[in-house]
Amino acid sequence: ILETKYKELTNALKEEDSLVCFSLKANSNQSIIKTFSLLGSGADVVSIGELKRALKAGIPANKIVFSGVGKNADELIYAIKNEILMINVESVPELKQISVQASNLNITAPISLRVNPDITIGSHKYIETGAKSSKFGLGKKDVNEVSELALKSENIELTTIACHIGSQISDENLILQSLDYIFVIAEELKKQGHEISCLDIGGGLGIKYHNEKKGDPALLIKEIKRRLNGTNYKFILEPGRSIIGNAGILISKVEYIKEAGDKKFAIVDTGMNDLIRPSLYEAWHGVMELENRKVKSEKYDIAGPVCETGDVLATDRELRILPNDIIALMDVGAYGSVMSSNYNSRLKPVEILVTGDKAEVIRRRESFEDLIALET
Ligand code: LLP
Repeated sequence: ILETKYKELTNALKEEDSLVCFSLKANSNQSIIKTFSLLGSGADVVSIGELKRALKAGIPANKIVFSGVGKNADELIYAIKNEILMINVESVPELKQISVQASNLNITAPISLRVNPDITIGSHKYIETGAKSSKFGLGKKDVNEVSELALKSENIELTTIACHIGSQISDENLILQSLDYIFVIAEELKKQGHEISCLDIGGGLGIKYHNEKKGDPALLIKEIKRRLNGTNYKFILEPGRSIIGNAGILISKVEYIKEAGDKKFAIVDTGMNDLIRPSLYEAWHGVMELENRKVKSEKYDIAGPVCETGDVLATDRELRILPNDIIALMDVGAYGSVMSSNYNSRLKPVEILVTGDKAEVIRRRESFEDLIALET
């Protein structure tokens, strides 16, 4: 799935000067990053930890973009020293910080302006990033200020205009609107004396979890090509969910079946600490029976063992299951493992990468010793 989805994008972009930067925040296991790295992918990172993961898995520094509203001095110094492709600036004080660090290091830092186009996308409010009052990106006024500062600073080279308006977007037109927006800004800034050569429209394309319409990468790219036809901009995409979301499942065992009021619960051995999306965003993940039981189909809520009423992974699912059966929670490849925790001192599960008929452990099961290893 990873290869197919990645190649779908790169094949569609074949004749373009373009770069696909896999967004590590969706899934940052070394073997996963390595898989994309071997395919030629770059990386979108949001912390020094992700930057180190990307470099360690073999992504070349000149294919790494670094976004995020709170990159601190240490993170910026590390990024500048490693000469990554660009740092996506999200505020005026951040630009000043980059300028100071770059001149201390006597290196020219390539930067991009992550702008905020004030576009709302209609997915969950926690995963919208392009609205005017969101913490992400630069508003119009800040763009002008950053542009002037960048012109004055000898150690800053502004090469790119970027944006990312949110995640799980089913309407490609919203992403295209943001492209139109950054195109206009790029043209304006060129007139002011910047050599803008690249446009980065972030990630955000949605996938099918349930009955929603998924975004169409082919359509998106066709339209991008049409709009950029005749211009010389290099083009960057930062997909996360759309190339890995459907590739992952979370295997769970039904420990007990119990009734409470008018509800029937299947209590399973994975919980909100393993997959927080249903509790945090009321996200829908499919549930698949893996045993083919001939018992009566009944409606269940799938609940985990965590001591929280919100630890419910799925509600009202028709299933034919018995205690000890194995079920799968579907489409957890993006924002699954990366958002997991050890809440309630629960050990994170083993991660397995399946390639054809080969299965390999890519993160071993945690032990109790791992859990307390950093504590005194
Ligand atoms: N680029 C930037 C700057 C981003 O902030 C993100 C995601 C991406 C690219 C990748 O977006 P994608 O293609 O995966 O939509 N935890 C939430 C999603 C948070 C997305 C954060 N930013 C969830 O589970 O739905």
